[in-house]
Amino acid sequence: MANKKSKGEENNELKKLIAHAKEYGYVYPSSEIYDGLQAVYDYGAYGSELKNNLKRLWWECMVRLNENVVGLDSAIFMHPTTWKASGHVDSFNDPMVDNKDSKKRYRADVLIEEYAESLRKAGEVDKGNVIESEMNQLLEAEDLAAVKDLIEREDIKCPISGTCNWTDVRQFNLMFDTQIGSVADDSGKIYLRPETAQGIFVNFLNVQKTARQKVPFGIAQIGKAFRNEIVARQFIFRMREFEQMEMQFFVRPGEEMKWFEHWKSVRLKWHKALGVPEDKLRIHEHEKLAHYANAAVDIEFEFPFGFKEVEGIHSRTDFDLKQHQEFSKKKMQYFDPEINQNYIPYVVETSIGADRLFLMTLFNAFVEEEVGEGDKVKQRTYLKLHPALAPIKAAILPLTKKDGLPEKGREIFDRLRFDFNLIYEDTQSIGKRYTRQDLIGTPFCIAVDHQTLEDDTVTIRHRDTTEQKRVSIDALHARLSEACSFTRIFEQL
Ligand code: GAP
Repeated sequence: MANKKSKGEENNELKKLIAHAKEYGYVYPSSEIYDGLQAVYDYGAYGSELKNNLKRLWWECMVRLNENVVGLDSAIFMHPTTWKASGHVDSFNDPMVDNKDSKKRYRADVLIEEYAESLRKAGEVDKGNVIESEMNQLLEAEDLAAVKDLIEREDIKCPISGTCNWTDVRQFNLMFDTQIGSVADDSGKIYLRPETAQGIFVNFLNVQKTARQKVPFGIAQIGKAFRNEIVARQFIFRMREFEQMEMQFFVRPGEEMKWFEHWKSVRLKWHKALGVPEDKLRIHEHEKLAHYANAAVDIEFEFPFGFKEVEGIHSRTDFDLKQHQEFSKKKMQYFDPEINQNYIPYVVETSIGADRLFLMTLFNAFVEEEVGEGDKVKQRTYLKLHPALAPIKAAILPLTKKDGLPEKGREIFDRLRFDFNLIYEDTQSIGKRYTRQDLIGTPFCIAVDHQTLEDDTVTIRHRDTTEQKRVSIDALHARLSEACSFTRIFEQL
């Protein structure tokens, strides 16, 4: 890969984005006045709009554009047996280890992976690879004592204390639990869902029958998921409370590979249609498959901290439905009228985190460039968000606060506000107001001046080029519609 970044550069890029997100109303640490809560974040005025736009786009593409995909909104709390059946109670674990000196907790596999990566970066590629594959074998065999031996043998140190004084490696279940009702013993113990998928599986027959669907068909939902991540880092990349957008596609047994390939290509195309450059996306094939899968890939994006998963496409076989049939003693079979057979469908899943998609979108949009010449060179920062995704579509900016310009500006604002999310602003210099809209990522600024009062025209300034054009007020609605509708994205799918 060209232009490999140093750790310092990676951190700077991330820090800059975090600061920008906070300063311009995108993302804040949760309960910040109490010093925040690790790996939990809140979305501000513009962040919540961007996130809603991303979720709406996903929903429209998955549900509205596919006649055989329907929606669901299932509860976060589910019967606790759900998680026994799905395997989460017994095996939704990460191996953790604590450093006794710094009292810091790490994921043992991440600690070893980072060490292996540092060896590869230092030219010891083979050694790095051997260590990583040894770790994978030990974790597969659940030999946690040997994982600790490996850490000690390689003298892998805690980055904080610099010592190799480690506790034993233990399995740590990532599910949060709580009590339902007033019973304080284990009988009332329930979990906060760690994925939205199980809500889809347990409703499979309800939805199939009531929405009159025939296999192959899909069920999609967007909702919160919770994981008690051992190491929560990299801003909203790994959170303890996050949102997933998942779709389970039910197919005839034996046809799952065809559909797996189909959804892999559909989803990759979707990311490209959103404007993610091709060289920043890649497909990562899973070598080690989860217990329920017979094929799995990740769609990865090149964040400043490396290529990382944004979306997973998994062929989940009939594992989940079979397990729920066994644990609930209720039939999960589908009668296929075309072949006159009963069977438990196989499932291909597409699963993307709304917050990771948000982070990818912000990184992609963040532009810093030098403008001007000679000693007039200055830096311009803006968010080059797709107009269909931008939180604010246009800002209406009267040049001055007098001569009837604010009234005219309000009139334009009122004409457009039903169809577009707008800002009206009439204080500060026009230059400062343009800069602020650039930083928020508003694609169009509409300036109202004295000529507007004479001929009903305004200037429209384009965020990316800063070019200004005179257009009639009557033409504004069509211009904004053309640029800001999802149709342009749909056409590329
Ligand atoms: N139902 C399958 C499933 O949950 P996953 O790979 O564990 O698969 C799917 O998660 C997606 O959810 C990931 O690709 C990622 O975008 C998002 N995700 C998972 N854990 C996350 C976390 N702790 N914080 C933010 N997003 C997360």
